[in-house]
Amino acid sequence: MASVQIADVRKAYGSTQVIHGVDIDIDDGEFVILVGPSGCGKSTLLRMIAGLENISGGEIRIGPKVVNDVPPKERDIAMVFQNYALYPHMTVADNMAFSMKLRKAPKAEIEERVTRAAQILGLANLLERYPRQLSGGQRQRVAMGRAIVRDPQVFLFDEPLSNLDAKLRVQMRTEIKELHQRLKTTTVYVTHDQIEAMTMADKIVVMHDGIVEQMGAPLDLYDNPNNLFVAGFIGSPAMNMLKGKITAAGFEAVNPKGGASLVWPIGKAPAGSEGREAVYGVRPEHVRLDPNGIKAEVVVIEPTGSETQVVVRCGGQELTCVFRERITAQPGESIGISPDTSVTHLFDAASGKRL
Ligand SMILES: Nc1ncnc2c1ncn2[C@@H]1O[C@H](COP(=O)(O)OP(=O)(O)O)[C@@H](O)[C@H]1O
Ligand SMILES: [Mg+2]
Repeated sequence: MASVQIADVRKAYGSTQVIHGVDIDIDDGEFVILVGPSGCGKSTLLRMIAGLENISGGEIRIGPKVVNDVPPKERDIAMVFQNYALYPHMTVADNMAFSMKLRKAPKAEIEERVTRAAQILGLANLLERYPRQLSGGQRQRVAMGRAIVRDPQVFLFDEPLSNLDAKLRVQMRTEIKELHQRLKTTTVYVTHDQIEAMTMADKIVVMHDGIVEQMGAPLDLYDNPNNLFVAGFIGSPAMNMLKGKITAAGFEAVNPKGGASLVWPIGKAPAGSEGREAVYGVRPEHVRLDPNGIKAEVVVIEPTGSETQVVVRCGGQELTCVFRERITAQPGESIGISPDTSVTHLFDAASGKRL
């Protein structure tokens, strides 16, 4: 196992800069997830760690060693791809053994490692099958088995669950997390799915357009997003955001319909922020039903059984709310809501930075 240090790493394809100086410290044994929208540079960064892309600037270290110019097979990493990349003409056992055979490891050692990986992943009775005889989830497990067999310093995963159906994705999420708790191998995992990131990571790195927007423990990002991008990206359904200004009475939201503007209560406004143009953020799950609260018109009700998601209209804006309770109100009727002001957010309107 090893730490990974990414220092001021840049990548350009021709004259197009796609990674603009990224710094990430990954501790030995840590499970780090790079998350961000499609095209933000996650795969490029991962492939630079793997050595599959050269590095245009900066430095990558695996353990104490700078690996900028070290070829992939000497980096002691194992990568798992979205499309699994199994050899169709080889059995499960041969797929898993392939890299060790290639480097001419002793037969007994290969067998021992393949058997162990198969046990860990529940593949022991599938070792003689071919990839075409496996389900998507089983193929994914074989791809992980192939990585485990190599016993690398670092695991790299690029959207490994994207080809699986929703139920299997949730199951594999748990399996990968469990696997990491067992093996404790340093892991860098790429996904565009913030739920995957929230549920699996020790540390999340939120990327956007080739930069790191914020880095931290999952719940820390959820509780204290540094800026509007992270606030909108982490959490589902997404945080409600209202434009307006901070006043002595609270937050005066702009009414885009031109009617009267609503004043939203805020916990503690930062000193000297009165009069400032800002964005008010409140997560759907932090809005409560409150007969004495703000009057809001019900637009859509979506019960899931465990909770009720409701879109309401108030002050000319639509807001999503998630209530623990079931509600009897019908679309068009009015309900009272109030935000939990201990967990509302304020961002500067111009810079998008947290106030
Ligand atoms: N070989 C390449 N040549 C030119 N541009 C590329 C190449 N590979 C990726 N890019 C560009 O780099 C950016 C980041 O891509 P990528 O790392 O694949 O994003 P992600 O994995 O986050 O979806 C994108 O704008 C993509 O178009
Ligand atoms: Mg990608």
